[in-house]
Amino acid sequence: MLDQNLIDPDRLPIHVAIIMDGNGRWAQEKNRPRLYGHKVGVESVQKIVSCASELGIKVLTLYAFSSENWKRPSDEVSGLMALLKGYLLSELAKMVQNRVRLVSIGNTQKLPRDVREVLEKTMQETAGNDGLILNLALSYGGRDEIIRAVRNISAEVVAERLSLDEIDENLITTHLYTAGLPEPDLLIRTGGEARLSNFLLWQASYAEIYFTDTMWPDFRQEAFYDAIAEYQGRERRFGRVSAQLGSG
Ligand code: IPE
Ligand code: IPE
Ligand code: MG
Repeated sequence: MLDQNLIDPDRLPIHVAIIMDGNGRWAQEKNRPRLYGHKVGVESVQKIVSCASELGIKVLTLYAFSSENWKRPSDEVSGLMALLKGYLLSELAKMVQNRVRLVSIGNTQKLPRDVREVLEKTMQETAGNDGLILNLALSYGGRDEIIRAVRNISAEVVAERLSLDEIDENLITTHLYTAGLPEPDLLIRTGGEARLSNFLLWQASYAEIYFTDTMWPDFRQEAFYDAIAEYQGRERRFGRVSAQLGSG
């Protein structure tokens, strides 16, 4: 399965995060409705989840719906919600079989009640799984996440349970939706745009960013391997110089 020539299994990214973009344009190029692009995009999700799980990647975060995507036409929003619910219902058995644990980040209280219920049920039923952590970003916005963290931290300060000098990187990290998850090593955006669109603003500080023109419905195993291969060819310096790396 694994293309040994392309990927070094010992240097896999631990956490891969993907901005799955380009569904609408992909469909429109084919004179089909945008929702058709989202439907085929779900097939890419299925493929990439299996692929990440087989490779042994620990965390896969998928940006499925942003806090700004509520502004889209209501029929597109409801179509996306129906696809999300259908995806969760149809994948549960496979997740259990492959030991995938589903988690989510974002303001999921805003999701329609039926979708939220299926999401919660899927998270509960996969909570004990020790394989890939599949993290769905739903109604997620990086700024929204930071505002929420600042409010929660401030409340603790006001209540005198926390002092100002205890506010550090680690404390902030534990107040984000992603608390407990490692930072993304590789951040992929499909669909040709080179922007973050409010995704993982804090967490992506040192992620390797990979932009590809491939539209999400066309993004399958080979394209995923290409992204990982490119990641493995990069030097992550974290502010240091080359000569310091490898020596700790
Ligand atoms: C990404 O594809 C899916 C979501 C944002 C929900 P788009 O729907 O943004 O597709 P384009 O960018 O319009 O082609
Ligand atoms: C980002 O894509 C959000 C998701 C992929 C869920 P958008 O299509 O919403 O981003 P913009 O509007 O082009 O920045
Ligand atoms: Mg888009």
